Amino acid sequence: MDDTGKLFIGGSRKPDDSLNKAEYLELKFGNRHGLITGATGTGKTVTLQILAEAFSKAGVPVFAADIKGDLSGIAAKGEPKDFLLKRAEQIGLADYQFEQFPVIFWDLFGEKGHRVRTTIAEMGPLLLSRLMDASEPQEGVINIAFKIADKAGLPLLDLKDFASLLNYMAENSGELSSQFGLISKTSVASIQRALLVLEQQGAEHFFGEPALKITDIMRTSNNGYGQISVLAADKLMMNPRLYATFLLWLLSELFEELPEVGDPDKPKLVFFFDEAHLLFNDAPKVLTERVEQVVRLIRSKGVGVYFVTQNPLDVPETVLAQLGNRVQHALRAYTPREQKAVRTAADTFRPNPAFDCAEAITNLGTGEALVSTLEGKGAPSMVERTLIRPPSGRIGALTDQERQAVIDRSPVLGLYDEDLDRESAFEILAARAKQAADAAAAKKAQDELQTAPPGGSGETGGWTLPGFGTGDDEGGGRGRAQPRRSGYQRETVVEAAMKSVARTVATQVGRALVRGILGSLKR
Ligand SMILES: Nc1ncnc2c1ncn2[C@@H]1O[C@H](COP(=O)(O)OP(=O)(O)O)[C@@H](O)[C@H]1O
Ligand SMILES: [Mg+2]
Repeated sequence: MDDTGKLFIGGSRKPDDSLNKAEYLELKFGNRHGLITGATGTGKTVTLQILAEAFSKAGVPVFAADIKGDLSGIAAKGEPKDFLLKRAEQIGLADYQFEQFPVIFWDLFGEKGHRVRTTIAEMGPLLLSRLMDASEPQEGVINIAFKIADKAGLPLLDLKDFASLLNYMAENSGELSSQFGLISKTSVASIQRALLVLEQQGAEHFFGEPALKITDIMRTSNNGYGQISVLAADKLMMNPRLYATFLLWLLSELFEELPEVGDPDKPKLVFFFDEAHLLFNDAPKVLTERVEQVVRLIRSKGVGVYFVTQNPLDVPETVLAQLGNRVQHALRAYTPREQKAVRTAADTFRPNPAFDCAEAITNLGTGEALVSTLEGKGAPSMVERTLIRPPSGRIGALTDQERQAVIDRSPVLGLYDEDLDRESAFEILAARAKQAADAAAAKKAQDELQTAPPGGSGETGGWTLPGFGTGDDEGGGRGRAQPRRSGYQRETVVEAAMKSVARTVATQVGRALVRGILGSLKR
């Protein structure tokens, strides 16, 4: 069979159970997203694994969360067990081979992989509010906090930066409210408490530097295979909001940083979103809309997003409609809700006259699924009852030693393993508090001198922040500890200096754009 440009998924069967044909996912439609659904134990993780293996083999980097630890086996060579060989034979997979795949393990807590961090600033107010489950007034305050940080050039890197900014806001709430809108001390106090909770849940490990560079999840290995980034998510799942927010952040980061490529021959990256229902579980409408938007737009950046969840009803219809490649494993249909899910799942397929879709869904065996992928000009193929191919890597978890061995020879070894604590809001505000009296005096003196500034009206369009002088005294120096810098910048000074001006500008344009998508509520 000619399978250039195609990923082999499995073999479909005729009504009499004989082999029908090979089923593929076309690489050029890999960025048209996908959905893997089915009840527990029906074969979702193995399907994720065989897709990840095939993408990797085709040179496409993969990012996947590993909820139960059982995806880690992809880093080890599989063994020729009977049930695997039998499956290979059933589907006519003549050259079934075992191999290991290049894996980078990541872990927000740094225990089972390399640390993954981002900064508060990059997470942005919308996702941070979601992470803290903020009420509307609290969200208002969080938005104001980001505005103040922007204006004052306060880098918000970690939780203590955000905490000290909140302190500053509480102390100066009167003055700040008149410029930025009401800052209620009660709301600030409740956000401070929410921050403490986050800290106790381990989120402090996640906020800070060095922040994850997306180029590090888009690597290929020496043999041309795409690196598979596996995020240890077993512990992370105990805090579902952190899990969902993190993956959303990563998506928005990809969206923001990657250039437009239209529809490439193969994806630049494929992103598997396991336990996807957590993303949408009581998510505010505005967040769901933004997710829908990001999913729609990220396609032209060459990123394919594959949602993995039990039930297609877990995914909002607007998102569901964008998922072109579908693998539906078995569902139970005892309760009315389950029956509805089966009908919904069946209705999303292009029907096959050979069988009843809804009935098939409840009768599928383990590792068997209804499959429909995009073909031709991008239309869904007729649904087929398909035995999914067996994986080439191991099914099931690595041992701790095996995992450590993979980590020890990782291409990102040493890049993220140490914390970096550069000067940011916390340090600046601490210094600021000391200088506040000086600055106020200096400002007063300056104001007296500037009653009639040359060439301008007495009125300035600028802003003032308690303890920060005025915003329009660019280069004045006295009002600020350092030249203004964006709160969204995360490069170290050396790194920043090494980058070209063009790149910096592009990044800032990108940042502005994403704040429109995931960074701000009302725009
Ligand atoms: N394509 C397949 N080929 C062979 N065995 C499979 C396949 N898919 C699933 N299995 C078997 O079923 C078990 C459960 O599959 P798994 O993917 O872990 O289910 P889920 O993720 O839906 O809970 C696997 O451990 C494996 O033994
Ligand atoms: Mg699973």
